[in-house]
Amino acid sequence: MSFGKVLSLSGGTTIPQIGLGTWLSKPKEVESAVEIAVRNGYKHLDLAMVYQNQDEVGAALKKVIPSVVKREDLFITSKLWNSAHQPQEVEKELDETLKQLGIDYLDLYLIHWPIAFPPGSGLFPPHATKEKEIAIDTVPSLVETWKAMIQLPKSKVRAIGVSNFSIPHLEGIINATGVVPVANQIEAHPLLPQDDLVEYCKKKNIHITAYSPLGNNLIGKPKLTDYPEVQEVAKKLGATPAQVLVAWGVYRGYSVIPKSVQEERIISNFKQIALGEEEYKAITKVGENNHTRFNIPFTYDPKWDINTFNEPVEKDATHQVKIQ
Ligand SMILES: NC(=O)c1ccc[n+]([C@@H]2O[C@H](COP(=O)([O-])OP(=O)(O)OC[C@H]3O[C@@H](n4cnc5c(N)ncnc54)[C@H](OP(=O)(O)O)[C@@H]3O)[C@@H](O)[C@H]2O)c1
Repeated sequence: MSFGKVLSLSGGTTIPQIGLGTWLSKPKEVESAVEIAVRNGYKHLDLAMVYQNQDEVGAALKKVIPSVVKREDLFITSKLWNSAHQPQEVEKELDETLKQLGIDYLDLYLIHWPIAFPPGSGLFPPHATKEKEIAIDTVPSLVETWKAMIQLPKSKVRAIGVSNFSIPHLEGIINATGVVPVANQIEAHPLLPQDDLVEYCKKKNIHITAYSPLGNNLIGKPKLTDYPEVQEVAKKLGATPAQVLVAWGVYRGYSVIPKSVQEERIISNFKQIALGEEEYKAITKVGENNHTRFNIPFTYDPKWDINTFNEPVEKDATHQVKIQ
């Protein structure tokens, strides 16, 4: 087992390969999760304004910086929320994130979704007339938001990137500005390998961070950690199913950000094991004819009435992503 591998990013920096996810970590849970993680060697933390727990993460950071780790030895990612896509909102929200975290810069700042909500009515502005729907702002384009990200001072963000972007979204912002995102954080696990997107990002030197690497269970399907094929490989390698799934992402060159609030899992998820080709193929096979994307905004409740990924289930969406 090995700890603490790092991967190169365009622009000359590095990212620790395994990070701690913090989505759905409840208040009081996330502070201790982050503290446990850092005390056990995690250097990479994945955060977002919309997780509504950054102030607690900040409290944990106070406990570990500088006594356990120096700020410059951590890699902290956060994300611009949909209701701050309007160019005048971008730096304001970044400042709010930095304030919540009690730090003066992020290592990586991502556009969380290629989707804008109107500003000024909270994180999930309700649709004016349709119940159980979130309001979509059709004004700012991805290019406009990306331009505002590019303008952010280096003193506050070391690198900028995106999340949940497909190839046309990436092409759109790159062609318009000439600035290639350093990273694209996407849902990636054996049921959603996204080979075309991964290939495109490789060519453009865009780092992939895999979210939901354990294939979380939003739609009531069996958890990937419970699949017999995953358990078999785990048994063979003397590892946990979660370690096998993290290793699958590592084999593909991603950074991987499993979330847990349980001490034993936080610690074991971080212990990297290596898959051989045979094990990698056995795990990849789980996804054959079993394409599953868990995280689709059009299926949320309340719904975001927009086609983000061109999945069949999104075909009746009213809005399309506004690239230009
Ligand atoms: N950019 C985006 O739009 C986006 C979207 C989703 C997620 N993310 C990021 O990616 C992170 C990870 O994704 P995720 O939270 O969706 O899913 P995940 O990390 O794949 O799975 C988390 C779930 O697995 C459980 N778990 C953790 N370790 C385990 C283990 N060793 N054995 C069995 N179960 C285990 C966790 O429960 P316990 O906590 O109880 O252990 C939790 O229920 C998020 O926290 C967030 O930071 C980003």
